[in-house]
Amino acid sequence: MKRDTYVTDADWNRFLEFSEKLETPFVVINLRTIKKNYIKLQNHFPYAHIFYAVKANPAPEIISLINELGGSFDIASRFELDKVLALGVPPERISFGNTIKKAKDVEYFFQKGIRVFATDSKEDLKHIITYAPGSKVYVRMLVENSTTADWPLSRKFGCHPDMAYDLLVRAREKGLTPYGISFHVGSQQRDIGQWNDAIAKCKYLITSLEEEEDIKLQMINMGGGFPASYIQPTNDLSEYASEITRYLRDDFGDDVPLILLEPGRSLVGDAGILVTEVVLISRKNNTALFRWVFCDTGKFNGLIETLSEAIKYPIVTSKDHPAAKKGEVILAGPTCDSVDIMYEDYKYSLPLDLKVGDRLYWLSTGAYTTSYASVEFNGFPPIKMYIME
Ligand SMILES: Cc1ncc(COP(=O)(O)O)c(C=O)c1O
Repeated sequence: MKRDTYVTDADWNRFLEFSEKLETPFVVINLRTIKKNYIKLQNHFPYAHIFYAVKANPAPEIISLINELGGSFDIASRFELDKVLALGVPPERISFGNTIKKAKDVEYFFQKGIRVFATDSKEDLKHIITYAPGSKVYVRMLVENSTTADWPLSRKFGCHPDMAYDLLVRAREKGLTPYGISFHVGSQQRDIGQWNDAIAKCKYLITSLEEEEDIKLQMINMGGGFPASYIQPTNDLSEYASEITRYLRDDFGDDVPLILLEPGRSLVGDAGILVTEVVLISRKNNTALFRWVFCDTGKFNGLIETLSEAIKYPIVTSKDHPAAKKGEVILAGPTCDSVDIMYEDYKYSLPLDLKVGDRLYWLSTGAYTTSYASVEFNGFPPIKMYIME
């Protein structure tokens, strides 16, 4: 694993200087990387409106940066909403993207000026009809993505296109604006073709609603799924953009609806470096082939996406140098739960002279790390985050 394929020398040196005296564990976020990623995404999809999925990393500095860049926000809860509004984001640039919400939360969002709501069920739509009258509603469509997305989001969210159809018809009957369709092909989606299938379903739904019900949907929300840079290779974003744009043109010609994107991981993932210190190195018997390397943070405090070894972060150590001899390890966290093993099947090779107290740098850890950290498991406080301007 070559560090400079993930972080430039200039950024790496700046990060080392910034973080050298900080006590581990922590995550450093490089705001410049997020700005660069945002601009790159917008340039590749010049026709799309970007709604940052705040859940990926809700740091105020990130929200403010994206606000300054003119971005909009996909919000999952009342608490995210309060945070984003307090930072000066206008309600017109916010949508309530969570299909699982309380009636009183719908009411709260409406009172705060939010007029765009996602749904995927009759019960939830009922709440929107009652507590957010006249709002725009879009329906999340179920798409299957469990084998090619590293962090799939299928099953729990969305409904079958037939039900999406019924919900949009019902929305209009009850005075809402049937606004569009959304889907999420799964996070860290490595198969670009998944968008093709989803867009084709949108086309079918949009055409049927127009022809049979005279409902003209305005938008497609293509969700997230765009990649961050982990160990498993992906195509470059430019490849995603050109293919997806082609799918849209193939299906819709010159009549492409308004396109929304909801990136999380692809904007902030590469901006983070999580730093841990080695607490213990041991072997389980005298002839064991692998060393266990225990770090001062793990699954419960920043590294939850190593569940099932789903996300494989690039890792470098303070002992990495070109001539370093390496051996395979099992990587585990510090808590007294045996689930707290990050990688056991997939073997990382770390320097043989790695010692207690050395640092491990987990690259591309800006997304879904700090926001997922537990509050006090084994007494450990949630992992700290520092922002590098
Ligand atoms: C509704 C919704 N939109 C967007 C995202 C962001 O997806 P990603 O991090 O793959 O960009 C998520 C992730 O969970 C989501 O649930």
